[in-house]
Amino acid sequence: MATTSRREALKMLAAAGGVAAMPAPAAARQVDPVFADYQTASQTDPWTLVVRDAPANGFDSQATLVSGSAPDGLAGTLFRNGPGRFSRQDWRYRHWFDGDGFLQSWTFDAEGLRHRGRFIQTVKWQAEEAAGRFILPALASVPPQPGGLSGPDDMNVANTSVLLLGDELLALWEGGSAWSIDPDTLESQGARRWGGGLDGVPFSAHPKREAGSGIVWNFGQDAMRDRMIIWKVGPDGALLDAGIVEDVPGGMVHDFVITEHSLVFLVGSYRFQQMRLPFLDSFAFDAEAPMLAIAIDKNDWSRRRTWELPPGFLFHFGGAWEEADGTIRLDAALSQDARFAMAGAYDIMRGLAETQTDSQARHMQVTLAPGGRSRIESLGDGFIEFPQIDPRLTGLRRRETWHIAWDVDQPRGATRIERRNLHTGERDAFDHGGSVFVEEPLFIPASPTAPEGEGWILHTALNTHAEQTELHAFNAQHLSDGPVASWRLPYACPFGFHGCWRPG
Ligand SMILES: [Fe+2]
Repeated sequence: MATTSRREALKMLAAAGGVAAMPAPAAARQVDPVFADYQTASQTDPWTLVVRDAPANGFDSQATLVSGSAPDGLAGTLFRNGPGRFSRQDWRYRHWFDGDGFLQSWTFDAEGLRHRGRFIQTVKWQAEEAAGRFILPALASVPPQPGGLSGPDDMNVANTSVLLLGDELLALWEGGSAWSIDPDTLESQGARRWGGGLDGVPFSAHPKREAGSGIVWNFGQDAMRDRMIIWKVGPDGALLDAGIVEDVPGGMVHDFVITEHSLVFLVGSYRFQQMRLPFLDSFAFDAEAPMLAIAIDKNDWSRRRTWELPPGFLFHFGGAWEEADGTIRLDAALSQDARFAMAGAYDIMRGLAETQTDSQARHMQVTLAPGGRSRIESLGDGFIEFPQIDPRLTGLRRRETWHIAWDVDQPRGATRIERRNLHTGERDAFDHGGSVFVEEPLFIPASPTAPEGEGWILHTALNTHAEQTELHAFNAQHLSDGPVASWRLPYACPFGFHGCWRPG
């Protein structure tokens, strides 16, 4: 770990998270083609509900049980986060990842299942709500007549994931601070402050909670300077350590995995090239650039092992573990390139649903052996995303991954959830059919001491026939039996990305 000039380096990293020095281009006021395309598509295609603006004052409703019965012992709250506001004053964001963070909670209690949704009250949200228009540059969009940025959190939309840390719920993004939320009321409490000159330093959206110790590991990227920060946080939310790791190539790194001894990053071939606005335009896919695997020693951040893999890209991992000889095994949703980030997520904003054609992620197992040797093997046919694991085995050898899945002839995306045994290849799946589009399947252990993989899978979905959002509960070991219970809301919610569970 770099310790010299640490405070100065961290300050630079905080500034790097934003684009304060970049002048924002002015845009003429005219009919916005993206807004117009979406309006047209939404007249006839209910799939476009996945990127419809949520109401500014949110949602609040009981869900109706439409089949089955709630599993015995399932009590608690599913939190989910994702983009929920895409347009203001007839102008629409260009990219799915730009939308303002919209937090949802699904609480299972004696009364049934209650759903709530609230926008996260970021600095950006509050300023733009007051102004009635978008003011600030987003990741991949620059609104008309944009204002300037004074720091990384000015453009923070807190729209990607959620983490329970002690009594706090954190809404996560990857370019700035975590946003602190009261998990009971969903009220925003401001940017999470860690002290030590770390305000505004990126705290990415896929932290990992180490099995046993409960220590939370995370990172934040400074892609422009080929480096990242490592975060080590206690289970109570106290910062244990943070420091810069240099010489990590500036690729778009969205997720990572931990093992007993290592923090493992795959730096794909979607690399930072040159600072541009919007910021996403700073990246390009370099088909010649190998994907790099970097394993950093948890106990000495200056020690690392690296591997070169074929060019590729990924958003998400399942999990990883380390064998006695140091071999690391991980599974991930790997793509040949970054066309979804570079094209598909733009098409979605226009209401063009037929984006999921090729170049989608497939479930792969990657073996990183001593001496720089590596191997990539397919774990199944078809496309997958949002891999999830039994969280009690984070960083440890385990058996299974759950994920959403779809086939090449399903251009509108996933209608199926699957469980895959990594060791035997056994597959267990359920397909909801053509009008139910599924979101991340979260594994909920039946109890803290239940055997590995014994519990439930909860996932939300958009039913385009009913034009309503659903929640389905499965026995995690018997997906093919179908949902044990399904609920429906009287409205449709925009799609989210990631969630977490708080036992009740
Ligand atoms: Fe993600």
